[in-house]
Amino acid sequence: MMARVGVIGLGVMGYRVAANLAKAGLLAGVYNRTRARAEDFRRSYPQVEVFATPSDLADRVDYIITVLSDDNAVSAVVGNLLPHLRGKVLIDMSTISPTTSVSLAKEVSNVGGVMFDAPMMGTSVDVEQKRITVLVGGPKDRYAEVEPILSATSGRVVYVGPNGMGLYMKLAGNMIFAIFMNGLAEAINFALRAGLSPDQIIDLFLNISGTRSPSSSLKVPKMLNSDYSVQFALKHMRKDTEIMIREAQKLGVPVPLTSLASNMFRMSEGLGLGDFDVSAIAEFYRKLSQQR
Ligand SMILES: NC(=O)c1ccc[n+]([C@@H]2O[C@H](COP(=O)([O-])OP(=O)(O)OC[C@H]3O[C@@H](n4cnc5c(N)ncnc54)[C@H](OP(=O)(O)O)[C@@H]3O)[C@@H](O)[C@H]2O)c1
Repeated sequence: MMARVGVIGLGVMGYRVAANLAKAGLLAGVYNRTRARAEDFRRSYPQVEVFATPSDLADRVDYIITVLSDDNAVSAVVGNLLPHLRGKVLIDMSTISPTTSVSLAKEVSNVGGVMFDAPMMGTSVDVEQKRITVLVGGPKDRYAEVEPILSATSGRVVYVGPNGMGLYMKLAGNMIFAIFMNGLAEAINFALRAGLSPDQIIDLFLNISGTRSPSSSLKVPKMLNSDYSVQFALKHMRKDTEIMIREAQKLGVPVPLTSLASNMFRMSEGLGLGDFDVSAIAEFYRKLSQQR
């Protein structure tokens, strides 16, 4: 029998995850706090039911996928869902603190459900093209059930280890991304001010530099064109760095570059850049440069 899957949270990532699952014939229903987005989804996928509450959705499906902003959102939604999770599998694809996730997994287990952390490595474009990698933490003996569901919306699914381990791997990956985004913004601003043309800078970072990468290909043109349309919001990047710093304190490891990057994102938000793409960090460096 086909798994009945529901998605809670139709933001930038959740909408695309749900679309892939709908195309695979796995999606039974969706819920979004702002209902208009769910109605918008149904216009494209009329076979999918829009539920009025997360609990209504949980009662009607076997597998519940959450794709929500942060710790507060996931804790609030899962907390309310607990009485509805007996016999259900909850797959949280949000990037949240592993500590929070492990504690929620215990609560879910206490009511007779199972939880996985399944954060995504990549961005909205990668979900659209089913190229994203999903990093899974949770009970290994139940992994075989969730793997085909996650495969329907990704290019690769990796079982990392027990609850929380998917998130640790995700955070380590995003740590270098947070620092790299600052590095790119700093170097591009320097190069522009020195008189290099945008074409020369594109050639440098996409073809010549040893740091060329998919991230450079995606973000350097956005930074140069001041195209800050959202693929991954700057405020979410700042949120991720704050989780890294808290977890690093618990682990007793220094993260000086992550802390600096985090402050840069925080200050960018202060300048009103939080809801733009993370590439808007380039604007921050531009604004801080001496005016000529
Ligand atoms: N974008 C990326 O490239 C990317 C890549 C990898 C991982 N992630 C992670 O994936 C997660 C989602 O990212 P996103 O870019 O899709 O974010 P987003 O566009 O901001 O969407 C956030 C979603 O969470 C919902 N939400 C927020 N607070 C809520 C609450 N208290 N109760 C119920 N729903 C709530 C929002 O509902 P409303 O519509 O009502 O606001 C929306 O559906 C984040 O943890 C992010 O770090 C993102």
